[in-house]
Amino acid sequence: MTYAPLADCGEETAILPLAVRDLVLRLGEATILDGINFDLGPTGCTMIMGPNGAGKSLLLKLLHGLIAPNSGRISWGKVRPTRVTSRQALVFQKPVLLRRSVAANIEFVLRARGKDVARRDFLLDHVGLAHKAAQPARLLSGGEAQRLALARALATDPEVLFLDEPTASLDPASVLAIEAIVSDARARGVRIIFVTHDPGQARRLADDVVFLERGRVAEHSSAAEFFPEPQSDAARNYLSGKLLV
Ligand SMILES: Nc1ncnc2c1ncn2[C@@H]1O[C@H](COP(=O)(O)OP(=O)(O)O)[C@@H](O)[C@H]1O
Ligand SMILES: [Mg+2]
Repeated sequence: MTYAPLADCGEETAILPLAVRDLVLRLGEATILDGINFDLGPTGCTMIMGPNGAGKSLLLKLLHGLIAPNSGRISWGKVRPTRVTSRQALVFQKPVLLRRSVAANIEFVLRARGKDVARRDFLLDHVGLAHKAAQPARLLSGGEAQRLALARALATDPEVLFLDEPTASLDPASVLAIEAIVSDARARGVRIIFVTHDPGQARRLADDVVFLERGRVAEHSSAAEFFPEPQSDAARNYLSGKLLV
């Protein structure tokens, strides 16, 4: 596949690394994210874990520029913040698709981004949907729809791919199919930032883990350290099944 994230913009303007400093998000009276700090390097797959309501989805939305923090800083490489969002893609738990054919869903994104529309066939094949190209997207199964959402995301040649529990409602075979596409993107240099509820999935994909609890980073560790021996009580309890809500 022709991902060419760095070729387009020159290495000196790559949007990674990422530095998050003292990030605070308040909604109404509630402090949802309360002083978040971490650094992410230019490559690999970071899994964001933590109990329901910890603030994972809102953190992704902040990183993607969909919402603004009350205070703190998100610094992407050396790029002006206004140019960052177009170099990132976000895949949600519920795929966001157009009510058009499978192929038209990808063509739309390629055209909108000024990319070569002929890449459609390659992308469809890459996510195993070539045989469904002419079907209405709304007739796809959950797993197929999510693979199409991933193809739409990859069509933009993102430098960073955010995924927010993209496999939460899928059967095991579909989960593995999605993970294979994500792993392939990672191997091609796309920076992955992936929210999951599933410790098994985190183990399969993670280079490092950011563990959130009640709006704070309880722990940020490499996968090699995190899974055998989490440092925080919050992550230890979560992994041992005491905090699965
Ligand atoms: N629009 C909103 N207004 C007020 N509180 C919200 C809003 N959206 C989310 N929250 C709260 O923020 C917290 C974090 O939400 P979220 O990031 O979705 O958690 P997670 O993805 O970790 O389950 C939750 O307690 C949630 O109820
Ligand atoms: Mg969430």
